[in-house]
Amino acid sequence: PVVAVVLAGGTGSRLYPASRSHRPKQFLALGDGDDSLLARTVARTGFADATLVATRPEFAEEVPDHAPDAEVVVEPAGKDTGPAILYATHRAREAVDGDPVVVVLPADHHVPDDAAFEATMARGARVAAATDRLVTFGVDPTRPATGYGYIEPGDGRTSDDGDAFHELAGFHEKPDADTAANYVDAGYRWNAGIFAWTPEALFREARDTPLGPLVDELDGNDPDPAAGFDAVDPVSVDYAVMERAERAAVVPADFAWDDLGAWDALDRVLDTDAAGNVVAGDALAVDAADNVVAGDGDTHVSLVGVDGLCVVAYDDRVLVVPKAAAQRVRDAVAELKERD
Ligand code: GDD
Ligand code: MG
Repeated sequence: PVVAVVLAGGTGSRLYPASRSHRPKQFLALGDGDDSLLARTVARTGFADATLVATRPEFAEEVPDHAPDAEVVVEPAGKDTGPAILYATHRAREAVDGDPVVVVLPADHHVPDDAAFEATMARGARVAAATDRLVTFGVDPTRPATGYGYIEPGDGRTSDDGDAFHELAGFHEKPDADTAANYVDAGYRWNAGIFAWTPEALFREARDTPLGPLVDELDGNDPDPAAGFDAVDPVSVDYAVMERAERAAVVPADFAWDDLGAWDALDRVLDTDAAGNVVAGDALAVDAADNVVAGDGDTHVSLVGVDGLCVVAYDDRVLVVPKAAAQRVRDAVAELKERD
């Protein structure tokens, strides 16, 4: 059986001030439609036999509003995706009868074609079951993005079920701009942030990493998840496990895909006006091009003679950042937290 694990425990600091500590991005309706990113992600899990939503304690109460039919898995503490994914993968073993294949899905993706997406997920799950590898999904890059991990495809293979995949020759999380440009030239792919594996394969690959103490706890007799979380530091699965995985695979992600992680993503997924501005909210643009304006509608924004900016107004807060620096909004949020 296949278990979908939706990750809904991040804070989404790059989407400040729409996302705040009490209102993380997975609960927001960004892009098209009124459904939250989390609700839309759960709606794409029809390929799975069971769907779990993994979150940290602070957000547990709100998850059912967005995912009424999913089982909520609450990790002992928010420690980034590494510990969260290990814990949810462990819990997936109780969610179905038989040995599960787990498919891990972030809750901040824009995927317009559900059918193409679900077909690729089913294929990735089959490859994971047949090969005992950690399966990644590789997106064809369209720019040297620094907000993504890069996947180096190795030799082509075919599973016993007849599914084509590549060995994973290398995994490089969030490179700087020059390195990203080299990776794109060399034919590397973006890591979609989606993974498929059996619990055995993940625990095998994670045992000899900084997450080892948590693996030992979860995979031992009478596991104590809280003690396991206490024994590890926050770290993403990409840095902790994927960058050093021994047996891993790449399945091509050939569906339209974007990560709604930062404000500059909106002009890739929403319609623009004739001057290339995205206006989500109440705004006027005069002699202004290629800007992103977003807000809760309570604040009117006028742009005059500026290009390439994100201007975002929510509650009593305004953010102004060049599109090219949109990933760095998390630095401002970290600074604001320190001042609090
Ligand atoms: N349960 C839980 N607990 N979920 C978490 C936690 C946590 O502590 N921290 C983050 N998440 C969730 C977020 O809510 C989001 O749905 C998902 O994990 C991914 O986190 P992001 O913060 O959006 O990661 P990223 O976009 O910077 O990078 C990842 O995704 C990229 C593609 O979208 C990496 O896997 C990159 O390599 C990849 O390219
Ligand atoms: Mg993301």
